[in-house]
Amino acid sequence: MVPEGEQAKSRAEWTRLSDQLLDLGFGRDAAIIALGGGVVGDLAGFVAATYLRGVPVVQVPTTLVAMVDAAIGGKTGVDTGHGKNLIGAFHQPAAVVADPRCLLTLTDRNYRSGLAEAVKHAIIADHQYFGWLDDNAEGVAGRDLKLLAPLVETSVRIKAEVVTRDEREAGPRAHLNLGHTIGHGIEQASGYRLRHGEAVALGLVAETSLAANLGLAPRDLPPRVKTLLDRLGLPVALTEPLRPDVVLNVMGYDKKASRGTIRFSLPSAVGAMAGTPAAWTVPVTDQGEITAAMKTIGIG
Ligand SMILES: NC(=O)c1ccc[n+]([C@@H]2O[C@H](COP(=O)([O-])OP(=O)(O)OC[C@H]3O[C@@H](n4cnc5c(N)ncnc54)[C@H](O)[C@@H]3O)[C@@H](O)[C@H]2O)c1
Ligand SMILES: [Zn+2]
Repeated sequence: MVPEGEQAKSRAEWTRLSDQLLDLGFGRDAAIIALGGGVVGDLAGFVAATYLRGVPVVQVPTTLVAMVDAAIGGKTGVDTGHGKNLIGAFHQPAAVVADPRCLLTLTDRNYRSGLAEAVKHAIIADHQYFGWLDDNAEGVAGRDLKLLAPLVETSVRIKAEVVTRDEREAGPRAHLNLGHTIGHGIEQASGYRLRHGEAVALGLVAETSLAANLGLAPRDLPPRVKTLLDRLGLPVALTEPLRPDVVLNVMGYDKKASRGTIRFSLPSAVGAMAGTPAAWTVPVTDQGEITAAMKTIGIG
């Protein structure tokens, strides 16, 4: 057992758990089972990655964020005073076991947080999945058990495919950052009052607008994304004021940033990303384009 929430993803908890395993005399034939949300998955995964130089981990995710995102791809780690996830290791799970019935007991906000990542997966790689989410938005939002298994399965398949092509994030794995450049800016600038998935939903609306404004994606893409997120119960506009310069600053767009350029992962259509093997992300130098995109979600 670990304490509730992000605070458990600490070096102190990593030490306590590792020492406990040593006290109990577990050897190299041990395996760790990470039963819980993304916090438990990242922490227990990091314990497994480092215990006796690495023992297997089985991820048993119990939140939607953990099922469709954290448990897949092998990123493990803990937070530091300098930021989240700064100490960690890549350690692929020996197996991932997910039971969608676990999702029925989540709070609404926690459940929806995971839905933002599912919409992101659809935009990145699978227009049929986007259509399926669109056709079933009310049932998915209402956690119809018949829909939860295909939801988790499809998102896992997409994330696993991307990660298999690029385990260490040297190339196409960057596409998983869609919605996260502006999303992270909003999450941090809001003082973490917004959940990660809520900030990502806003980021998806803003970044698809950016893609359309830059001529990379069709004009109807941002409204389609916005309508789907809204029907899934995710925010598509800010209800509290946030200053654009504060968000830009968090995003690294200050005078120090290299030539004032931010690289974005942007879609070219529902189910396809802009970019090439020479450059998986798109550099945006015009700050005006970014502030215009943020205006669409009520920033500025
Ligand atoms: N490694 C990765 O690639 C990756 C990807 C995405 C997120 N993450 C990490 O995951 C964490 C967020 O994960 P999270 O959203 O699952 O948060 P979390 O692990 O804190 O879980 C959210 C809450 O749900 C509770 N909970 C867990 N399962 C439940 C269930 N079945 N029913 C009711 N309540 C339940 C938990 O006790 C907690 O209060 C962050 O630390 C983030 O950095 C990692
Ligand atoms: Zn995310």
